[in-house]
Amino acid sequence: MTPSARAPRPPKASPKSKKRAPSTPPTPPVEIEEIELAGGGRPHPALGLGLWALGRWTPEDEARTKATIGRAYERGIRWFDSAEVYGNGRSERILGEVLARVPGAAPDAYVVTKVAWDHLRPAQVRAAIIGSLEKLARRSVDLYLIHGPDARVPLAETMPALEAFWKEGKVRAIGVSNFSVEELEEAARHLSEAKIAVNQLRYNLFLRDDVDPVQEYCRSHGILIEAYTPLARGLLHGRYLDGAKVPREVRQFAHRLFEPDILPEMLERGRALRDLANDNHVPLGSIALHWLRKMGAAPLIGASRPQQIDENLAAWAVRPPDRVLDRADRIARGDRA
Ligand SMILES: NC(=O)c1ccc[n+]([C@@H]2O[C@H](COP(=O)([O-])OP(=O)(O)OC[C@H]3O[C@@H](n4cnc5c(N)ncnc54)[C@H](OP(=O)(O)O)[C@@H]3O)[C@@H](O)[C@H]2O)c1
Repeated sequence: MTPSARAPRPPKASPKSKKRAPSTPPTPPVEIEEIELAGGGRPHPALGLGLWALGRWTPEDEARTKATIGRAYERGIRWFDSAEVYGNGRSERILGEVLARVPGAAPDAYVVTKVAWDHLRPAQVRAAIIGSLEKLARRSVDLYLIHGPDARVPLAETMPALEAFWKEGKVRAIGVSNFSVEELEEAARHLSEAKIAVNQLRYNLFLRDDVDPVQEYCRSHGILIEAYTPLARGLLHGRYLDGAKVPREVRQFAHRLFEPDILPEMLERGRALRDLANDNHVPLGSIALHWLRKMGAAPLIGASRPQQIDENLAAWAVRPPDRVLDRADRIARGDRA
């Protein structure tokens, strides 16, 4: 496949944009740079939208989910991250539908999806990718990831199967998620020509445990770290800092951050980060997202409504100076000095 290196283009206007509700007035797209992948394929946008918790995947929720994806595209987001497991396939189907509605959006979008950790036998991988392409209504995806390793299935089986789709052009680049250095090394051993382009990991100012051990390996092998949960489920946008109750689903899916033994300390650090943001006249979200960029990662935000897209892009549009990002790094690690 030939990589199409091009600068981000302003999105085409949606035919429905005239009917948009007054709460979401037209706002110009935000510029998002692209990153060349050592593993080839199209240049990878530096900021993306993840479609896991985007909607709660109920039929009632579908209109808002579509509006959120549509808003993201309209505002310049091109990287959309899905997975066969998200909403049991609804996420891929809805993304395909939204992109099909806007002329030019389907080929313009940078579409990523994943094979589930329990589908890593070659026949299962084939079924998964065929199913995903069908739901997404496309012939290929820009990046295809293994959602997570499965100790019961050797990567010697999975990687050649993935590489075969790469050679067929169904997958323009190959990546993994939640992989350790040992797993990355083992995966690379079973690719003959393709390279691992991406490792998608949980990564934000507060949660670095997954990344610290693999960062050097990824850097030296040109593997881009896609950072999921970059806003710590809204905490790094200021949510929950003033005592709002943390819903159970957030506690469940945000790793240890919201556990009662840790939360008070994290809230204190979060408030110190907010003070830093206020003192420097930048949104807290800017610090969270641009700290990740400074670490070489590409943040993959979540949002469950169009307004959050606008807020997060407003945060993205402001790049705090390095001294502020460095100070934030120290505060997030617990340095009070
Ligand atoms: N590979 C993996 O194993 C893996 C695991 C997890 C996630 N991911 C991917 O990474 C994506 C992002 O992860 P994430 O959803 O955990 O990221 P996140 O950006 O840290 O959290 C997103 C949530 O934060 C809240 N939020 C976002 N913007 C906000 C704002 N401006 N103000 C207040 N609250 C805001 C929303 O919560 P409410 O919806 O409650 O309002 C939103 O659903 C996922 O969608 C998925 O694609 C991958």
